Amino acid sequence: MSGDQIIIFDTTLRDGEQSPGCSMNTKEKLEIARALVDLGVDVIEAGFPIASPGDFEAVQKIADRFGDQTTICALARSLDADIAKAKGALANAAKRRIHVFLATSAIHREHKLKMDKQQIIERAVASVKDAKEFCDDIEFSPEDAARTELDFLCEVVEKTIAAGATTVNIPDTVGYATPNHYFKVISYLKQNVSNIEQAIISTHCHNDLGLAVANSLSAIEAGARQVECTINGLGERAGNAALEEVVMALRTRADFYGVHTKIKTERLVPVSQLVSSITGMKVQRNKAIVGQNAFAHEAGIHQHGMLQERTTYEIMRPQDVGYVGRNLVLGKHSGRHAFKDRVAELGFSLDDDALQKAFDDFIALADKKKEVFDSDIIALVDNRLADAPERWKMISFHTSAGSAAIPTATLELQCEDQPVMCDAAIGDGPIDAVFRALERITEITARLEDFNVRSVSEGKDALGEVRVTINVLGRHFLGKGVSTDIIEAAANAYMQALNKADADRRTGSAAASDKVAADTP
Ligand code: KIV
Ligand code: ZN
Repeated sequence: MSGDQIIIFDTTLRDGEQSPGCSMNTKEKLEIARALVDLGVDVIEAGFPIASPGDFEAVQKIADRFGDQTTICALARSLDADIAKAKGALANAAKRRIHVFLATSAIHREHKLKMDKQQIIERAVASVKDAKEFCDDIEFSPEDAARTELDFLCEVVEKTIAAGATTVNIPDTVGYATPNHYFKVISYLKQNVSNIEQAIISTHCHNDLGLAVANSLSAIEAGARQVECTINGLGERAGNAALEEVVMALRTRADFYGVHTKIKTERLVPVSQLVSSITGMKVQRNKAIVGQNAFAHEAGIHQHGMLQERTTYEIMRPQDVGYVGRNLVLGKHSGRHAFKDRVAELGFSLDDDALQKAFDDFIALADKKKEVFDSDIIALVDNRLADAPERWKMISFHTSAGSAAIPTATLELQCEDQPVMCDAAIGDGPIDAVFRALERITEITARLEDFNVRSVSEGKDALGEVRVTINVLGRHFLGKGVSTDIIEAAANAYMQALNKADADRRTGSAAASDKVAADTP
């Protein structure tokens, strides 16, 4: 690696998964890992194997499947048991890294670890040596580095490099740093750690003050050569540095930074959409790089300038980040082949069954709607990606509502091959009535925790997408539905979430839950 290449270390599957409500099952993690490999990230932090059997399995499967293409990293505290689990999960990966961490700041030493400086150094060195017996590529993180006394930080970094760490990561665990402060921390390490040239300095910035990307860029200016980041900036609390923002800042301002990454930037928007779809975490419209408005010019003066010369108001080309605008793509006479090609161009890979279902949905939509846009196709495919269990199927629904009527819903559902069941319920509105009727028939009592509706494209006949999160006996289930009829979209979303809860109830399977408690750092 040359000195002007920045290593992109993606931690969407580990720190990103620590975002409230963002837990993923193994299949979903594999799907994201595949997209990250295609995106060109250098290191995938696949998880924290000691946290739960599910985490272990996910890291192991990702290591088995992709460990010959991209470095797969497993996180471990500076504890024998954690490191043993990390070794077990990475056993079959040709390119593997163990990431060991131990807090170093006074607050953490005194209140969390109850260890003094000497004990911290001994534990850190011992765990790096233990991990080093398994593989050469070892990363050490002094957790809460940004609030650690600089001289002690230098000592920890120097000793862990001497013990075998090849990357030293300097986490701003609580998002406390500011750009100039973080620049000084990295510069200080460069000047005061005698063996610093033997390791790569890495950044890991949290976004509590909205500075994670700015701090990461400052660290690069000071000499860091690895950035830890996540797709869409997912992560603990306010999140981590957003991968897409760091990468595009470095690319757009290559004149200033003089560095590059190996990221295939035209994959950024598709990966962002995939992660948003799987985690249920929507991307705000005006989010830099991947938001729906990121390339929309509204003001007349901007539009005029753009028509004369694009670069008057545009510093990046939409196609460079894989941005899909209001493209009119396919019509009702487009064949399955054209649909399949378009789905692939949009960055999705569906198995034959899911592709057929999405195509059927597309034909049904094209019948109702004059113009079908890329954004419609993304929503339809997204809906089929969920791979949710479908024990209960909705056969039909009818609602009645109005200012003088009691909102009522009548539903027909079928459970596997059993006879169709019919029931009705009243509610606060027609959607609430549908939800109650669904619960009556399936005999699952759920609490609605989140209800989100958005218009996928433009116009009166736009496709609506509804996302719901329900809580059943303390477990959370996400459901999505799309339709030009918002009540139908809501009904499908609730049905999907109830089907997941039903599968969970029947099998007790953690994989069916959208939120699995994990003992994460
Ligand atoms: O924020 C943090 O300190 C972490 C460490 C585990 C690197 O996520
Ligand atoms: Zn973190």
